[in-house]
Amino acid sequence: MSFRYEPVEEPTALKLNEASTSKIFQKSAWRVYPSECVVTDLYRQLEPHISNLPVREDDVWILSYPKCGTTWTQEMVWLIGNDCNYEEAKSRTLNERVPFLDYVFITADTGAEGDTIQMVKEQPSPRYIKTHLPKDLLPSEIWTKNPKIIYVSRDPKDAAVSYYHHYKLWNAYNGSIEDFFEAFLSDSLIFSPFWKHVLDFWKLRNEPNVLFNTFEEMKQDLPAVIRRTAHFMGKKLTDQQVEELAVHLSFSNMKNNPAVNKEDGAEMVRTMNGVSSDLKFMREGSAGGWRKVISPELAERFDKWTEEKLRETGYRIGISSD
Ligand code: PPS
Repeated sequence: MSFRYEPVEEPTALKLNEASTSKIFQKSAWRVYPSECVVTDLYRQLEPHISNLPVREDDVWILSYPKCGTTWTQEMVWLIGNDCNYEEAKSRTLNERVPFLDYVFITADTGAEGDTIQMVKEQPSPRYIKTHLPKDLLPSEIWTKNPKIIYVSRDPKDAAVSYYHHYKLWNAYNGSIEDFFEAFLSDSLIFSPFWKHVLDFWKLRNEPNVLFNTFEEMKQDLPAVIRRTAHFMGKKLTDQQVEELAVHLSFSNMKNNPAVNKEDGAEMVRTMNGVSSDLKFMREGSAGGWRKVISPELAERFDKWTEEKLRETGYRIGISSD
């Protein structure tokens, strides 16, 4: 497959990068075809290593657009796959248990996680892998080895608010919230376009190796999502195990769990970037929290944008089935 790159020239995307004082955040932005996805220079350099990454039939891939419930899903899936081994889950960070493939090309940091492509290659089977790459940029063997794919989606208004706080913390973004939302709506943030990302997996939802979940369903009825996910993974959990797992996965427990709350990394970037200690990875964890941040006028723009993108797709925000 040949890849074509075009610079992202939307003014809001450029403004966004100028407003980041981070030394390690990759500020270059290219739109790559196929996929239309916005990626960094480092992605461009590493693309062959990602496209040619060997995939295993017993892999479990956790996929999402950023800020849609990936970490929550990673912890749920790893525990289901590992017979609710809480001891191991507490003693090894989520990044060690479920490596984040993309880390290597979204920051120039060679420290904490190092070469995450290599890390993925070295995982013992069955591997659990997190990526925000869209369908068209996944390693090509995904489509021949057919590993399990667990996708999670979220209301874009909540994802956008969460992504804004993410940029403030990890990328030392100090520009305006308005510019940030403009960049989100113009599909010019890293890993955008949002709706193409979601809909490409929504179209695959009935494939036997694909499970489509939503953040909203996890908020509304976590035990039901745990059961559905366990069934998909071919695992049997007792009612008691489901109940215990739902407690372990509650926002307050995950917020206080150092193996998953990313506080170590956050503390490092807060010091390096000199950003407020109020900025946390485990921020609010709500569905509908956007109402406190997004004005009714902007919400209407989001809704119109969504309506256009979802026309004739059958997809409804927050609902994983037809
Ligand atoms: S990332 O950086 O893309 O991997 O982020 P991701 O994990 O996809 O999304 C982060 C948001 O998920 C929230 N979160 C949770 N919400 C509810 N319950 C639990 N257990 C939970 N764990 C993580 C996290 O707080 C981020 O959302 P916001 O809205 O910013 O709080």
